[in-house]
Amino acid sequence: MEFKFLLPTKVVMEPGLRERTGEHLRELGLTRILIVTDAGVKAAGLLDSVYASLNRAGITFEEVSDIKANPRSEDINHTAALYRGKGIDGLLAIGGGSAMDAAKAISLLLTHEGRIEDYEGSFTLKHAIPPIVAIPTTAGTGSEVTCFSVITDTARHFKMNVLDYRIGPVLALLDSDITTTLPSSIAAATGMDALTHAIEAYTCRVSNPISDGLALHAIRLISQHLRAAVQEPHNQQAREQMLVASLIAGMAFGNADVGSVHCISEAIGGMYDTPHGVGNAIFLPFVFGHNRDADITRHAHVAYALGIDPNLSPVDAAEAAVGYLFQMSKDLGIPRFAEVKGVREEDFLTIAQKSKKNFSDGSNAKEMTVETYREIVVAAYNFS
Ligand SMILES: [Fe+2]
Repeated sequence: MEFKFLLPTKVVMEPGLRERTGEHLRELGLTRILIVTDAGVKAAGLLDSVYASLNRAGITFEEVSDIKANPRSEDINHTAALYRGKGIDGLLAIGGGSAMDAAKAISLLLTHEGRIEDYEGSFTLKHAIPPIVAIPTTAGTGSEVTCFSVITDTARHFKMNVLDYRIGPVLALLDSDITTTLPSSIAAATGMDALTHAIEAYTCRVSNPISDGLALHAIRLISQHLRAAVQEPHNQQAREQMLVASLIAGMAFGNADVGSVHCISEAIGGMYDTPHGVGNAIFLPFVFGHNRDADITRHAHVAYALGIDPNLSPVDAAEAAVGYLFQMSKDLGIPRFAEVKGVREEDFLTIAQKSKKNFSDGSNAKEMTVETYREIVVAAYNFS
């Protein structure tokens, strides 16, 4: 057996923790930071107590508050150019995966020349970057503990991955009070992203014993709490459990990989701007069903962790899990693929080709071809 497991992130969880952001940043020696966030977080009033705590700690800050879903390379390059050489010694990302991934990419470019497109792939960084602190406001991406940044290359309409240990946040501040402000539709999509992370981490070809344990526990937590977290927005316990589960799933896939669900979801995200979690939720049952015979034992383990009857045989349990995943998406109000904005049948081959080119294609449980991807996309489109 051979594997590496790295978690560069200190994790602190506490209700109301954002009010103590300044103290935590001061402990890291930060004095002048760039806040990276989005308009929704700002409008929800979540930043006011963060500003106050930074002021109390004597930390000065600049702010970028217009990060959009599926952050684009041209915006990252433009923002980084504005702050290069301005004495920024750390970044504070407050938001979902888009804000956190944008902060990672901007931080990279503060100490590296060129454009973010120049750093696509694994371990392309040349030296250290300003440390990143993350306050996740969604329970989904796990980006607060991963060393990935996913940025849409505007020219290619392609979601590219940047992977390097140096872009992993040094500190994740989990404030469970924030989670009840999250709209239900976003809680649903991001929760399904977290479930996809856990399932793909466990079933992919590059899992390891530590990521396995984390992934199975995340699947259990998500199956127990996601429905309540979506259907009862003020259910603090369910929302808190999802915040923990998405972080655990992030630790799992960050040290294993994801698979073909993400390959397809990122392809359509780059082409149609489909929310990442929605794309994952749509394709998860199809890819799980397709992959299961590659390793029926592991797919059955996922099924049992989802709460499928442990008396079922592995084959029957894995089949029941496919139905469970379809039902879960339906219960959470996830649209069908044919209902996704912008989808056109003439694009299906392109979606399949982009999926095949994805960073994580080779990690999928089962060998995939362009034709297999296309068949899955067609099946999802015709699903009613
Ligand atoms: Fe994801």
